[in-house]
Amino acid sequence: MACVVVVGTQWGDEGKGKVVDLLTEGARGIIRFQGGNNAGHTLVVGSEKFILHLIPSGILHEGKTCYIGNGVVVDPAVLLMEMDRLKDRGVAIGPEKLRLSDRAHVIMPYHKSLDIAREKAKGAKAIGTTGRGIGPCYEDKAARCGVRVVDLLDPEVLRQKIEANLAEKNFWLTKYFGEDGLSAEKVYEDYLAFGQRLAPHVADVSAELDALCQAGGSLLFEGAQGTHLDLDHGTYPYVTSSNPVAGSVSAGAGVGITRISDVLGVVKAYTTRVGGGPFLTELDDENGKWMQEKGAEFGSTTGRPRRCGWLDGVVVRQAVRLSGITGLCVTKLDVLTGLPKLRFCLGYQTKDGRRLDSLPASLAVLSSCQPIYEEMEGWQEDISVIRQYQDLPASCRAYLERLAEFAGVPLSMISVGPARDATIVLRNPLA
Ligand code: GDP
Ligand code: IMO
Ligand code: MG
Repeated sequence: MACVVVVGTQWGDEGKGKVVDLLTEGARGIIRFQGGNNAGHTLVVGSEKFILHLIPSGILHEGKTCYIGNGVVVDPAVLLMEMDRLKDRGVAIGPEKLRLSDRAHVIMPYHKSLDIAREKAKGAKAIGTTGRGIGPCYEDKAARCGVRVVDLLDPEVLRQKIEANLAEKNFWLTKYFGEDGLSAEKVYEDYLAFGQRLAPHVADVSAELDALCQAGGSLLFEGAQGTHLDLDHGTYPYVTSSNPVAGSVSAGAGVGITRISDVLGVVKAYTTRVGGGPFLTELDDENGKWMQEKGAEFGSTTGRPRRCGWLDGVVVRQAVRLSGITGLCVTKLDVLTGLPKLRFCLGYQTKDGRRLDSLPASLAVLSSCQPIYEEMEGWQEDISVIRQYQDLPASCRAYLERLAEFAGVPLSMISVGPARDATIVLRNPLA
């Protein structure tokens, strides 16, 4: 039995969905433990492409159970739509296949309205959120006024919570932001109906995962976002409102940390970021354009173009430290094919000439740094058809090995195309 956590090491969109889909074969349960439908995880199987926002990326496999843990914030309308769309494409999702934690917090319409109104009010200083209500929902969780999945099943409690929340939220929306308020009755009716449809899936996920482990089943935890979007450890305030680091599995799924056996860190072979915030290796030149175009770097959730830049070893090494990563899954290596020279960032130089080996807490200091690069040879051969590590061009292996050495952990997997089978597997902890 193994418990493997997959996390993003950069700013999200590293290819976690593909890695989780691939590893699912060796797992019994696949679990989301934080974030919400700000995530967009892409799976490509044969000629079919699926983008999942809330449902774990193991859903396409038969005989597996997918879990949405208590640490996830759930927009029930989005979850139901995602279930319906999968059903239309032949993926039936019965209650035995998808379990939803009774303790997960629910994204309400006022969370979305507040998210959008706040971003608008911030103007040029906007975080660039996905506008899905993620931050305001986590705020209510911490403020102890949130609506939980279990509340959707109790009409009296649901009505009271919506009325109490809207008395306050409508004040902010109308009086402070000058936006429209919401009708408590309408929200109540909609959410009661969502609760009725989701009821068969609602479960004590922590208890069910414990039972699975006791029976010898392996678990695969699917991180959303990336380490540097972490609320505590990321480039605050340009972060999300949850903790994408691996340790958050314990709080977000109700599984003790001593159960975790491996942590895989997904690394895009270059760096991307959607939304605002510092990004030292960002490129505003032909190389950046290459990555954006060849890598089709548009957000899977909002469709926004992703900012692109060189691989930042400092970012990856810090993620290894923060999540106790035991193996690296490098994705999108094929996108770099054809670039004559590559650059790898191995440190930052401050304005006053000091060298930094990790990201500083101060955004002012970070933003004023210059990346220190090492230049590496590129490769010209088509690597998308390669399935054995030793068949990769020497300069390509040198690039990967430099990353692994710098980050201090071995390579587990190399992805050379979006499809499930376009992968070189070196070490699979679930095999
Ligand atoms: P996630 O949020 O970490 O799951 O990543 P996204 O799905 O948002 O973005 C990754 C994108 O890269 C998706 O469009 C994937 O289909 C694609 N992708 C994943 N691995 C590879 C790869 O090795 N090569 C190429 N060219 N595309 C990849
Ligand atoms: P996956 O799981 C990339 C970014 C947003 C914004 C910041 C805060 O697909 O890797 P939020 O809506 O969470 O309050 O926005 O976080 N962001 C992501 N960027 N991939 C994601 O998820 C992201 N989820 C949130 O763009 O900068
Ligand atoms: Mg994504």
